[in-house]
Amino acid sequence: MSPTKRGTLAKRTADSVQALLQALDAATADLDPPFAVVDLDAFDANAADLLRRAGGTPVRLASKSVRCRALADRALGAGLRGILAFTLPEALWLAGAGAEDVVVAYPTVDREALRELADGAARERVTVMVDCREQLDLIPAGAGPVRVCIDVDAGWWPLGGRVRIGAKRSPLRTPEQATALAREVARRPGLKLDGLLMYEAQIAGVGDRPRNPVLGAAVRVMQRASAHELAARRAAVVAAVRAVAPLRFVNGGGTGSIERTAAEPVVTEVAAGSGLLAPALFDAYRAFAPRPAAFFALPVVRRPSARVATVLGGGYPASGPAGRDRLPRPALPAGLRLDRQEGAGEVQTPLLGPAAADLRIGDRVWMRHAKAGELCERFDVLHLVQGGRRVATVPTYRGEGRSFL
Ligand SMILES: Cc1ncc(COP(=O)(O)O)c(C=O)c1O
Repeated sequence: MSPTKRGTLAKRTADSVQALLQALDAATADLDPPFAVVDLDAFDANAADLLRRAGGTPVRLASKSVRCRALADRALGAGLRGILAFTLPEALWLAGAGAEDVVVAYPTVDREALRELADGAARERVTVMVDCREQLDLIPAGAGPVRVCIDVDAGWWPLGGRVRIGAKRSPLRTPEQATALAREVARRPGLKLDGLLMYEAQIAGVGDRPRNPVLGAAVRVMQRASAHELAARRAAVVAAVRAVAPLRFVNGGGTGSIERTAAEPVVTEVAAGSGLLAPALFDAYRAFAPRPAAFFALPVVRRPSARVATVLGGGYPASGPAGRDRLPRPALPAGLRLDRQEGAGEVQTPLLGPAAADLRIGDRVWMRHAKAGELCERFDVLHLVQGGRRVATVPTYRGEGRSFL
């Protein structure tokens, strides 16, 4: 994409966010902030775009990036298939409520939940993640085999492994290591090998259009080389494991890598979630421009000086390496920024910038979270807006009394 096109895209996004937020304002005028809103028109458009980008490869919903059952159901209704859950208790809860194909994306050592899985009907609907024998040892014998998925490292290790780029996940990396664990699973009557997962965080979760163009160029070089290496290794790992036991699925990727991951013939499904709500960190990708769908409103409660407007609350930083990109971003009115010294505060957040001077006590400011699902750990409900009207208010996981991580 040329720099001119990039500039146009960024501007268009800013303009449409402005128009959207004015509509959200009208749709929620009777509510007292703080509250959170999801724009269903944007959410639906984003779901359609994820499916388009996958080009026919099924897209499994990463539930950590939604954390609201009504929105998960809406995504599944739009055509996403199956759930990539983030804890086993969550998966058991969802399966108990009717979810049919739930893969827990991260290993579990929760003995009580594993016992419930092994003994109960959820065994037919829930798959747990493993990457070592100790995790297998924790799965108790039950009424029938427990489904397991093997997680294999998808990081990029240039310079003979002296540099390691990617999430520190599985110790398994080679076809030999993966097949050794697959054989161990096959040997145990209480287990059934169900799938294989390789998640390339360094491609799917790292924006290739950051503010700093030099960094952007470096990210793109890294991602191209990593994708090239991974395609060959993933094919070899899948072939080797399939020679040990059949696989129902091979899962890879995330919102930021869908087209690349789906293009690999051995991948049977991609995972995605963040692209539905399109939080601030997902503004920084070249291949796609999701419509921001999740916002929260905060009230202006004081004016410490003519240039500063202070809102109540706002200190909802996102997980990951602590840095400014993890902080919520003021979205409307345009022309607001956080204070460098105070950032987003536990109980109050001072806002600076040209628009701050015009804010009055009682006005509201719209913010975006840096990440997708974590916003739902801050609010009991989400107000859903469609066609410029508020159409429903639905509970988040937290609002249902469920907080898994
Ligand atoms: C295993 C796995 N797959 C996929 C994803 C991608 O999720 P999202 O599309 O929300 O970025 C993640 C995110 O961390 C993940 O851990």
